[in-house]
Amino acid sequence: MAKDGSEMGINTRLAHSGNNPRDYFGFVNPPVVHASTVLYPDAASMAARSQKYTYGTRGTPTTDALALAVDALEGSAGTIVVPSGLAAVTIPLLTFVSAGDHLLIVDSVYHPTRNFADTMLKRLGVEVEYYDPHVGAGIAALVKPNTKVVFTESPASNTFEVQDIPAIAKAARAAGAIVMMDNTWATPLYFKPLDHGVDISIHAATKYPAGHSDVLLGTVSANEACWKQLYEGFCTLGCCSGPDDVYQVLRGLRTMGVRLEHHQKSALAIAAWLEGQPGVARVLHPALPSHPDYAVWKRDFCGSSGIFSVVLKGGGQRQQHAFLDALKIFGLGYSWGGYESLAVPVFLGDRKIAKGPYDGPLIRLQIGLEDVEDLKADIKRGLEAAAAI
Ligand SMILES: Cc1ncc(COP(=O)(O)O)c(C=O)c1O
Repeated sequence: MAKDGSEMGINTRLAHSGNNPRDYFGFVNPPVVHASTVLYPDAASMAARSQKYTYGTRGTPTTDALALAVDALEGSAGTIVVPSGLAAVTIPLLTFVSAGDHLLIVDSVYHPTRNFADTMLKRLGVEVEYYDPHVGAGIAALVKPNTKVVFTESPASNTFEVQDIPAIAKAARAAGAIVMMDNTWATPLYFKPLDHGVDISIHAATKYPAGHSDVLLGTVSANEACWKQLYEGFCTLGCCSGPDDVYQVLRGLRTMGVRLEHHQKSALAIAAWLEGQPGVARVLHPALPSHPDYAVWKRDFCGSSGIFSVVLKGGGQRQQHAFLDALKIFGLGYSWGGYESLAVPVFLGDRKIAKGPYDGPLIRLQIGLEDVEDLKADIKRGLEAAAAI
C-alpha cells in the first residue's frame, strides 16, 4: 500500500483520511477545537512562534483534519478552509492579482464570482476580461504579458458547457499565468484539477461535502508552487471558519462518495428521461451523449453529479414560472448538493458570450436523494403547467 493510501478505493479514503484516531486517545473523530488563544510554554518559543499551532486564525487540529482530507483527494500541497464557497473564490483571487494585472474569467462563471471581479477587483485596478467556455487552446490568443490568472469553472454554472481544462492550463502556464478552477460540480471524486494542469482548485464545500443544506464553507487547495502565497493570503485576510462548521463538513465528507453515486444515478436517469418528454427542447447535462461537450467530459471526468438544466420548448418567463410554481417536491431555493431536490430559474442576462441561443427558458434542477419516480412525477407536473399557458 502506498503511504498516502492513494491506490485504495475512494470510499475507503473518504472514510479514513484527515485525522489519525490515535492522536486523540483512539476516538474515531477529531476534537472540535474552539480556539482563539494558544498558549506557549515560554517566552523564547513565543518569540520564535516555534510550535505547531500559534493562533486560532491560522489553523487548529479541526481545520487541519479537514484540510488534510481534502489534500488527500486533490493531491494538493495544502488547503485553506474558508467561511463560504464564495470566499473560496474571492480569497485566492485577492491573494494572487494586483493592480495592473489582467484576469481572464470564463463567461459562464458563477454569477457572484463575476460580480466580485466586476466590482471590487476592477475598483482595485485589475483588468477583467471574459472568455468563451469553448475557447480551449485558443486562450493563448487572449493571454497578455500582464495576465496573472485564468479563472475557470467547469462544467459552467447553469448552462453546463465543459471546458478543455488541459488545453487552457497548458496555454496559460506557458504564458506564466496561474490557473484557478471552481471544481464544485465534480468534486475531487469526479475531476482532479491539479492532475490536469490547474494550480488552485476551489470548492464550495457547502454543496456535496456538507451535503445537508445546513452549513456554509469553502476549501481552496494549491499545488506546491502556489501554496505558500495562498496560505499567507489566507492569514493576512483573517478569513478563518468556525470549528463546528468545519467539523460538519468533515463529517459530510465521510459519506460524500455514496451520496454522490446516488445523485449521479438519479440525475442521469431523470436527464435521459427528460430528453423524451413533450415540452422539452434540450437537456443540458454533460454526461448525456447528446451534450455537445460529451466527448470532453468523458475524456477528463470520471463521474457526474446531480445538477443540470432543462430548456423548455418555447415560451418565456411565464412558462418558466408556471413550471416552478407547479412543483411539490422540488423546493425553490438557491444552492445545491444537499439531500433534497431544488429548482431555480436560470438568468443569463449577465453573460457576454455564452448566452445561447436557447429555444426557451432554462430551469436548473438539483436532483436530491429522493426516489426517482416521485421526482419524475413532480417534473411532469411542472411541464404540464408550462404547456397549459
Ligand atoms: C459553482 C459555485 N461556486 C461557488 C458557490 C458559492 O458557494 P457558497 O454558497 O458556499 O458561497 C456556488 C454556490 O451556489 C456555486 O454554485
